[in-house]
Amino acid sequence: MVGKVLLTGGAGYIGSHTFVALQDAGYDPVILDDFSNAKKSVLDRIKLICQRSEIECHQVDVRDSDAIFEILNQGGFVAAVHFAAKKAVGESVEKPLDYIDINCTGLLSLLKAMERAEVFNLVFSSSATVYGDQEIIPIPETATRSYASPYAFTKLMGEQILEQVGDADPRWSFGTLRYFNPAGAHASGMIGEDPADIPNNLMPYIAKVATGEFEHLSVFGDTYNTHDGTGVRDYIHVMDLADAHVKSLKTLQKNSISHAINIGTGTGYSVLDMLAAYGRAVGKTLPHKIAPRRDGDVDTLLGEVEKAEEVIGFKTRYDLDEICASSWHWINTGAFQAAKEDNS
Ligand SMILES: NC(=O)c1ccc[n+]([C@@H]2O[C@H](COP(=O)([O-])OP(=O)(O)OC[C@H]3O[C@@H](n4cnc5c(N)ncnc54)[C@H](O)[C@@H]3O)[C@@H](O)[C@H]2O)c1
Repeated sequence: MVGKVLLTGGAGYIGSHTFVALQDAGYDPVILDDFSNAKKSVLDRIKLICQRSEIECHQVDVRDSDAIFEILNQGGFVAAVHFAAKKAVGESVEKPLDYIDINCTGLLSLLKAMERAEVFNLVFSSSATVYGDQEIIPIPETATRSYASPYAFTKLMGEQILEQVGDADPRWSFGTLRYFNPAGAHASGMIGEDPADIPNNLMPYIAKVATGEFEHLSVFGDTYNTHDGTGVRDYIHVMDLADAHVKSLKTLQKNSISHAINIGTGTGYSVLDMLAAYGRAVGKTLPHKIAPRRDGDVDTLLGEVEKAEEVIGFKTRYDLDEICASSWHWINTGAFQAAKEDNS
């Protein structure tokens, strides 16, 4: 093992996949999660994938800085990866204080605990949402940042906090990863995105159409300036995204230079492309209906990806069909059913 890594929000969708990638890379990941958006059964499923009898997990609110310090102070930690956050854009408009508290206070609480424990490498879950509306596509990392929701505000604020702290104190190294659209699941089918409520993201929604839970996919607008009129986005396999965290962390440990980079494939697919690809995975055509456009949606959202390759040596490995096949495999496994039934 090359050291312990604290994963705040490590029981969640991206955190659980990153746990597996870090363990495969020789790290010893430790989970901190309050289970506000995760099920405890995920721990057993991670254990099965990683062939471990035990994993270290602390049920702690990330805003409890003293509790984080106690964990880090046990020693052996080389870094933290900060996933713990609330992430629904629509909900953030209704509850901005909750979002600012958990996402921004949570980050500050973690940073203070890390400083006390003298752990100075942090990989931070940011989002392409910090680019707001952009004219230039693909978006370079140098684009002006802005926000169109309280959620986006918290991610931009998080990035700026890290910039201020890093500028003031050279002991810190930050890997800020601006994710595009994570999708898919681990190849085992044991972990994946658990769309317990009405999903915010497209793929869990399509999955519910595939299982018959929803009658059809509502496609919000078909008059965008794209090849088929529906919105184009960059979907990245969650295991590729997990690998980006490993590469970011290794780079920070090697050169101690902070980086802020886009993590995507650089290729865009429309809503109808996604529906057709998922239909190929399922083996049937999935129904859709065109609905009115939603406020704030843009034609195309794609980022430049060259910097990720230059700075951390990251390149994606999986294509759209593999993303859809892995998602469908997860939806069809007993593990998904178990996760659904687990109300812990
Ligand atoms: N999924 C996406 O589309 C996406 C896109 C861009 C960025 N992100 C960011 O990536 C990160 C992980 O996202 P995800 O999709 O895995 O979400 P998720 O909800 O599955 O995981 C977040 C985890 O954090 C935990 N958590 C929430 N509040 C907490 C608190 N106060 N204390 C401790 N734990 C807490 C939840 O229980 C959950 O397990 C988030 O920061 C999110 O904003 C996600």
